[in-house]
Amino acid sequence: MNNLPPIDISDKVVILGYSGSGKSTLLGWLLKTIKLRPLYIVDTVNIYSAVPSYNYSGTTKCNNPAKGKICLKLHTPEQFEALLTYLNHKKSNFFLAVDEIDRYCDVWHLTTEVKLYLEEGRNFGRGGIFTVRRVGFLNKSILGNAHYLYLFKSNNARDLQYLEQITGLDLFSLKYSQEHAFHVIDLHNSRDLGEFALKL
Ligand SMILES: Nc1ncnc2c1ncn2[C@@H]1O[C@H](COP(=O)(O)OP(=O)(O)OP(=O)(O)O)[C@@H](O)[C@H]1O
Ligand SMILES: [Mg+2]
Repeated sequence: MNNLPPIDISDKVVILGYSGSGKSTLLGWLLKTIKLRPLYIVDTVNIYSAVPSYNYSGTTKCNNPAKGKICLKLHTPEQFEALLTYLNHKKSNFFLAVDEIDRYCDVWHLTTEVKLYLEEGRNFGRGGIFTVRRVGFLNKSILGNAHYLYLFKSNNARDLQYLEQITGLDLFSLKYSQEHAFHVIDLHNSRDLGEFALKL
């Protein structure tokens, strides 16, 4: 893959794409390559770590162990709030990766520490990367505070129209040369940084 723009510990990144587009695969690759520490991974669909049982919550053993990489299994928005309470109060900097963020963040109402992290985190070295299938599943603070949007191909006109309002870009004309390719949108500067594709 061509070099992605570097992700800073303060950055928030949203990976948006339909089911099967390659979000979790891309996130897994990023987690291997990102050097940011401490790196916390919320393993929503049990692919980045060994989750002992279906109702387990707590830390899990990462599949690719690396110093400072911590995997967790959570189930509820309350547990996510508890995690952010811990991180906000105990860690000066951290990077958080969450597959399927919509499982933990309500579209309309954010809990206190999650809201602080999403809205103030970039001023305090607290970034993260999140995947989601539909833009309508996202609380507006998530995209509103993201630096980069990794956008897989979508045929959903409403999603694209909504994203056009946010980015000011013509997203209907984006070209995707392959099924699992994505565009990187710099949301701070309303710029399409081009097409990228992970080679497996
Ligand atoms: N860059 C790629 N090249 C080839 N195959 C890929 C690529 N990315 C993902 N795939 C394949 O596509 C399938 C779906 O990928 P993945 O599970 O990452 O999608 P997803 O967007 O996370 O889907 P869901 O929303 O259902 O979780 C997998 O079988 C994966 O191996
Ligand atoms: Mg997935």
